[in-house]
Amino acid sequence: MSKRLEGKVAVITGAASGIGAATAQRFKDEGCLLVLADIQSELGLDFAKQLGDHVYFEACDVSIETDVERVVNRAILEFGKLDIMFNNAGIVGAKGPIDLTPADEWRATTDILINGVFYGVKHAAAIMKKQRSGSIINMSSVAGVMGGLAPHAYTTAKHAVVGLTTSASAELCTHNIRVNAIAPFSMATPMVADAHLKNHLATDEVEKTLAANSPLPGRAGTALDVANAALWLGSDESGYTSGLTLTTDAGVTTGSMVRRPNYEDYVPMQREAGSQGL
Ligand SMILES: NC(=O)c1ccc[n+]([C@@H]2O[C@H](COP(=O)([O-])OP(=O)(O)OC[C@H]3O[C@@H](n4cnc5c(N)ncnc54)[C@H](O)[C@@H]3O)[C@@H](O)[C@H]2O)c1
Repeated sequence: MSKRLEGKVAVITGAASGIGAATAQRFKDEGCLLVLADIQSELGLDFAKQLGDHVYFEACDVSIETDVERVVNRAILEFGKLDIMFNNAGIVGAKGPIDLTPADEWRATTDILINGVFYGVKHAAAIMKKQRSGSIINMSSVAGVMGGLAPHAYTTAKHAVVGLTTSASAELCTHNIRVNAIAPFSMATPMVADAHLKNHLATDEVEKTLAANSPLPGRAGTALDVANAALWLGSDESGYTSGLTLTTDAGVTTGSMVRRPNYEDYVPMQREAGSQGL
């Protein structure tokens, strides 16, 4: 059986850690040729070497447009095409109450989480338009679908990613380019281990904490769950899907963590409003 990304070329930003690294491994296992990008150069280089042939690394800060352009051009230089662009790099960014959020922290956060994705979509689109093919995947979050789940700048930026995804999808569809987003809930990655336990290496421990509080009993979300979503969006299997924000959230955005109605017992329908209400 042929591999699901056989011969395809992907760029993945934020590929030195967490979801980006899990996606790089998953894509590689499915026959994809890779350019990995990250601000953590040493870690990224080591990881690219570990993945083996046809995997290159470019140091890149996604908040700098020329860095992102260089990464995309590396894919053309090495492989002559670009099939999949995964704009994944991110940070938690500015935290705290809105009235105490410093403007420079707000700008630094949105520079990475919004502008970084814009640069990725822009430079991938320039190449993919000429090819008349491609799949762009943007990293949003459940915080891009609902409020109250993350800090203000992060929530705003991840909503913007959903907006950019639908907008770019509407334009790029006519060029045979698909644009989709992924919106995970808390997954057991270094970012979340750092946020919950102040230790980015404690991913196993944070996985246990997430599993204990998960809407799916005993099951935490992992980087691999998101990598699998990216694999589907990057592959031809999702060939008629564009503009989608695909949640990997155990139903959190549909209310699975809200206090549940009684689904256990049959209660006859009340046909009239009465003193006990509806
Ligand atoms: N883990 C989750 O629960 C979760 C949930 C929803 C969304 N996300 C999003 O998924 C993406 C990956 O998160 P993760 O959990 O794997 O985190 P992570 O910290 O493990 O990995 C993020 C990677 O992005 C890189 N990065 C950060 N800023 C960068 C920059 N300016 N330029 C280039 N690279 C940069 C980091 O060096 C790191 O390698 C982020 O966009 C995050 O917001 C994560």
